Amino acid sequence: MALIKETDYGTPASKSEKMVSLTIDGVEVTVPEGTSIMRAAMEMGTTIPKLCATDMLESFGSCRLCLIEIEGRNGTPASCTTPVAPGIAVKTQTPRLAAIRKGVMELYISDHPLDCLTCAANGDCELQDMAGAVGLRDVRYGYDGANHVFEKSRLDSAANDLWLSKDETNPYFSYDPSKCIVCNRCVRACEEVQGTFALTISGRGFDSRVSPGMSEDFLSSECVSCGACVQACPTATLTEKDVIKIGQPEHSVITTCAYCGVGCAFKAEMRGEEVVRMVPWKDGKANRGHSCVKGRFAYGYATHQDRITKPMVRDKITDPWREVSWEEAIARVAGDFRRIQEQYGRTAVGGITSSRCTNEEAYLVQKLIRAGFGVNNVDTCARVCHSPTGYGLKTAFGESSGTQDFDSVENTDVILVIGANPPDAHPVFGSRMKKRIREGAKLIVVDPRRTDLVNSPHIKADYHLPLQPGTNVAVVTAMAHVIVTEGLVNEEFVRARCDWDEFQEWCEFVSQEVNSPEAMAQYTGVDPELIRGAARLYATGGNAAIYYGLGVTEHSQGSTTVMAIANLAMATGNMGRTGVGVNPLRGQNNVQGSCDMASFPHELTGYRHISDVETRTAFEKEWNCTLDPEPGLRIPNMLDAAIEGTFKAIYIEGEDILQSDPNTHHVSAGLAAMECVVVQDLFLNETARYAHVFLPGCTFLEKDGTFTNAERRIQMVTKVMTPKNGYADWEITQLIAQKLGLDWNYTDPSQIMDEIARLTPTFTGVSFEKIREHGSIQWPCNDDAPDGTPIMHVDEFVRGKGKFMLTEYIPTDERTGARFPLILTTGRILSQYNVGAQTRRTENTAWHPEDVLEINPFDAEHRGIKDGDWVTVRSRAGETALRAVITDRVATGVVYTTFHHPTTQANVITTDFSDWATNCPEFKVTAVEVARSNGPTAYQEEYEEFSELTRRIVPAEAAE
Ligand code: SF4
Ligand code: SF4
Ligand code: SF4
Ligand code: FES
Repeated sequence: MALIKETDYGTPASKSEKMVSLTIDGVEVTVPEGTSIMRAAMEMGTTIPKLCATDMLESFGSCRLCLIEIEGRNGTPASCTTPVAPGIAVKTQTPRLAAIRKGVMELYISDHPLDCLTCAANGDCELQDMAGAVGLRDVRYGYDGANHVFEKSRLDSAANDLWLSKDETNPYFSYDPSKCIVCNRCVRACEEVQGTFALTISGRGFDSRVSPGMSEDFLSSECVSCGACVQACPTATLTEKDVIKIGQPEHSVITTCAYCGVGCAFKAEMRGEEVVRMVPWKDGKANRGHSCVKGRFAYGYATHQDRITKPMVRDKITDPWREVSWEEAIARVAGDFRRIQEQYGRTAVGGITSSRCTNEEAYLVQKLIRAGFGVNNVDTCARVCHSPTGYGLKTAFGESSGTQDFDSVENTDVILVIGANPPDAHPVFGSRMKKRIREGAKLIVVDPRRTDLVNSPHIKADYHLPLQPGTNVAVVTAMAHVIVTEGLVNEEFVRARCDWDEFQEWCEFVSQEVNSPEAMAQYTGVDPELIRGAARLYATGGNAAIYYGLGVTEHSQGSTTVMAIANLAMATGNMGRTGVGVNPLRGQNNVQGSCDMASFPHELTGYRHISDVETRTAFEKEWNCTLDPEPGLRIPNMLDAAIEGTFKAIYIEGEDILQSDPNTHHVSAGLAAMECVVVQDLFLNETARYAHVFLPGCTFLEKDGTFTNAERRIQMVTKVMTPKNGYADWEITQLIAQKLGLDWNYTDPSQIMDEIARLTPTFTGVSFEKIREHGSIQWPCNDDAPDGTPIMHVDEFVRGKGKFMLTEYIPTDERTGARFPLILTTGRILSQYNVGAQTRRTENTAWHPEDVLEINPFDAEHRGIKDGDWVTVRSRAGETALRAVITDRVATGVVYTTFHHPTTQANVITTDFSDWATNCPEFKVTAVEVARSNGPTAYQEEYEEFSELTRRIVPAEAAE
């Protein structure tokens, strides 16, 4: 394995279809119109010296190193800013060009420290490379004059006002101003790629300096630590601290981020088995060379001291854990599950697959539950996030997934974001979306909070509909009312593609006065004119695309909203081509995959119902077993059954339901009622407090497999280090199966994917070999679509005719009143991920050390709450305490928090209300009261004590 060096073409590719021919150094080359001469030269294999250009950024033309000569033209234009023209003859190397370049380099080097041998970028420095490329042998200017290099003058030891000390405030990278060549690449990366605009060049000429914000340090500036500037920097000015500590990497491997559903592809750059840095892969089709702070920097949890690497068992949850051999732990699981089934009946056991593990691992867990235990009691975390997406989109279009690829946003004219906060929750897609908005796309945001998308540098939403939490159906149906009653329907599309009778019925329904924006205002709290304006823009503004998140699904009417969204897209003809569609932004890295892999109790792979005889027969034949034709229990039903005494054992792979699921008291009561709780995870998470067996899992860096992102893109996860626990997660599941007597003999996860492909019509063309060959594949991938399917429902919907559903608004049963006058809504922030088990064990805590409660100034003043005060938040389900942050980002009557820290226990407050179709919890609407307090509640303190008690470990040696 070698270090993967991607070619830097200097400027971005042109999208023109018109081709232009020219000669460069006597060789004819043909490239798309608009291509720079620099890129055209690179494409034919000729490298022109450069410093300020890189193909991730628009050309800038400041360094003057890339000069060329063009026959018949005067001067020496910069090749990065000069586009190709038909028939021109370019020379990239002449004595005149060589002399100019050498002179430019001399000037750069005269204000740069010559400490190459001890510099962290030694061997990976473009300045060093360029010195070599231009043949620099001597620097005529010394350091005695003005420079940025030395703290003190070399002549008289006086302080050098131009010198600045290093900024080490960012936990992951350092900024050494003495090495800056002011090429502006970092500033442009922050603007063009990331869209944060955190950096500026202050001063002019020789005084120019890169500066975060208004001369702040990186940590206290607007910087979100995405690392795009570090990646863009051609020198060691901005450098990863791990590179400084470890040295330059010697090999790299392509893999996929294990955090969010964007699915960024990375080069894991390694030194032996140590990760030196994660560099976003430019060929990654989801991220196109960009990343966020989590994927690029927050991998330290993989080697964190809290990792459990030995299996452990105990009889009672109050006993200390006892480290045991893998044999003993696996025998205990198999023995307990069999005993419990014999004692309490076949259906007394179940399992939860992980949306953080690979497709192959999720598939094996559900196979174990179905084939090994003979039940369909299997579920996944999508139950608490996007199960309404599966249900709603399957109903409307016939397939349970988003319709587009991420590239599609580049062709969108109107972006409608509902209940999602991409810059925080799906950051890299958020950056791509913001780029399109800066290019001119219109933006509608439907969200109770004034998220960053509503108003951020160079972005302003054309419409922000600040609805009351829980009224999505009312808002979307009111938009449909406007579209239908104002004659904005795309009738041609609807007649051709949808069921016309159902459409007419729907028109009649949405046209009713009760569904008008004016009538709905009593529920939504939104100015009817805003809804009317947004609906008109969506229907008439060109290609319109809807992006939505958990703010849509985690409601008692989550599935209804998904169907209402589908109705809007069909009615306006915004389906089946690039730039449009319905795009659920999936939360966890492999939540799409775990759903595809039959993790739901009623479905086999590819979303086929368990009652379907043909599907079931195929699985029975492949698995050599008999399957139960009845759907099994969902997570909340398993917990209910446990409390009732009929459900006794659960195998949980890579989920922390105690922290992530609603109504913590109910979850803990359910877990406590079971006789055997098996947790397979990296850390002793909150759920593990109730576990009897702990099977140490492994990280994405320690195993092979695939993840499927929010755009149905299947990508490779590649092992770069030996599993600290000894086994990949799929191997652990296989050990349990073998102990139960199942004839499982997978020796490589590719064989599991081959089995999935044999059994799943939308996967028949998928294999590890093909994914590696193409870089990624979007399912469906089969004989009809051998290279995969970037955009779905192009000529017809998967179900045939698109189905319009009536979406009556029914207010949630969770009501505010005198006791609980505020609505609590929850969400996530950029630096933390889900329950925080991974990110809390990284330096990301620098940005979010604790969960806080956002409260409007009016509501705070009314309760005598000041910024930073401890407050209790009380609901019908429970109470917790945390610190208050006073902000008008939330409207009056609404409070907001995150659930990344177990000490906050935000889900102690959330209730059992859930989506009518899928049981997805109503996380986004909880009636609460907020009051000042002195600190954590008694429950939080007890919880801390109990946590300590249930986490004691007796090492293997001591136990013997
Ligand atoms: S890390 Fe990202 S956000 Fe921060 S300055 Fe660099 S490019 Fe901008
Ligand atoms: S910090 Fe790096 S990228 Fe930014 S201007 Fe200086 S040398 Fe260029
Ligand atoms: S967390 Fe999401 S956006 Fe960030 S690098 Fe990973 S996949 Fe990309
Ligand atoms: S690379 Fe063209 S001017 Fe700098």
